[in-house]
Amino acid sequence: MASLNENYLKLQAGYLFPEIERRVKNFTAQYPQADIIRLGIGDVTEPLPPSIVKAFGKAVREMGKPKTFRGYGPEQGYSFLREAIAENDFKSRGANIDPSEIFISDGAKCDTGNIQELFSSSAVIAVTDPVYPVYVDTNVMAGRTGAFNKETGRYDRIIYLPCTEQNQFCPPFPKERTDLIYICSPNNPTGTILSKDHLKAWVDYAKENQSVILFDAAYEAYITDPEIPHSIYEIEGAKDVAIEFRSFSKTAAFTGTRCAFTVVPKKLAGETSSGEKILLHNLWNRRHCTKFNGVSYPVQRAAEAVYTKSGRKEVKSMISYYLENASLIRNALTEKGFKVFGGVHAPYIWLQTPEKMPSWMFFDQLLDKAHVVGTPGAGFGPSGEGYFRLTAFGSRKNIREALKRIKEKI
Ligand code: MLT
Repeated sequence: MASLNENYLKLQAGYLFPEIERRVKNFTAQYPQADIIRLGIGDVTEPLPPSIVKAFGKAVREMGKPKTFRGYGPEQGYSFLREAIAENDFKSRGANIDPSEIFISDGAKCDTGNIQELFSSSAVIAVTDPVYPVYVDTNVMAGRTGAFNKETGRYDRIIYLPCTEQNQFCPPFPKERTDLIYICSPNNPTGTILSKDHLKAWVDYAKENQSVILFDAAYEAYITDPEIPHSIYEIEGAKDVAIEFRSFSKTAAFTGTRCAFTVVPKKLAGETSSGEKILLHNLWNRRHCTKFNGVSYPVQRAAEAVYTKSGRKEVKSMISYYLENASLIRNALTEKGFKVFGGVHAPYIWLQTPEKMPSWMFFDQLLDKAHVVGTPGAGFGPSGEGYFRLTAFGSRKNIREALKRIKEKI
């Protein structure tokens, strides 16, 4: 028989969201009449905005005509999209990113999961706790961790940086030297943000310790305060130490359409065991060309439309809609006596469970009594225990109904 990658056997149960789905399925099998409202996985509910649909449709029609048909595109993405991103997402905010440093992909989940391939199996990684589970699980699969310790809720050989109410959900610096540090702002799951000063401190730390920051900015479009950085490259020197991940998923309703991008600056280097400096851009390019054939032409044209005048306006209004949902959730929960965090510059609301009840217990209670699905904080790491995540993605009607049920039944 073929021998297996036994690192997979270290993984805990199922991946968080399929596990939630499994529990909801069991519940609905028992109570088929229950009208379930899903505020669990962060999946958008509003449709693609009209300007995006128009560009998408036009590109599909081009693919149906001999003169405008296209086969394989450049693996790194078409220059029309890379240029639009460099101009609108970076240059406009004072960050100097060249289009050739941008790699178009089919998702930030894939990119944040795949990036670890560039680093040695002995590279030391640090993650915030709670954390988006992809960062941890992909390193477990790659054999970069020890076993899972059931008592601590942690994998050996991962450095956990607890983000708690006490430190305002800002990760403390690791005590040990680390090669890779995963940072997400606006944060999934806590919905909190890192200020310019915080990010600057992290860039300085990475420089001093020769670490690489893997910066996940998938939720940057939800930032409403102009003082909060959207990109780590707004911080001077970040191009020497950071890779950034972005996505059109939550920005422009692309969760089902799939388009994202990763910025790997051309200056950023790692080191071989013999001390030779190698550029990460070259390695990521090599990986991308070997394992990926690019995002489809119509999808890239649809993403390009996000940056048109009308596209920008439509996307902004969609994000405001979700942020209003977030505000309704925050207010209703606060009124009910819950302690709530996040939800101001992010589509996630992080709440403390009543008397810090175990988060899976609260999940069951919310499902049983209110027929509302959320995400247990423990699923994001040990510091998430006693907390719970609700998403602001949903129709206004469903959000209001969910809040009414929580008010009456919890
Ligand atoms: C989440 O709910 O945390 C997100 O939907 C996960 C993702 O974007 O992959």
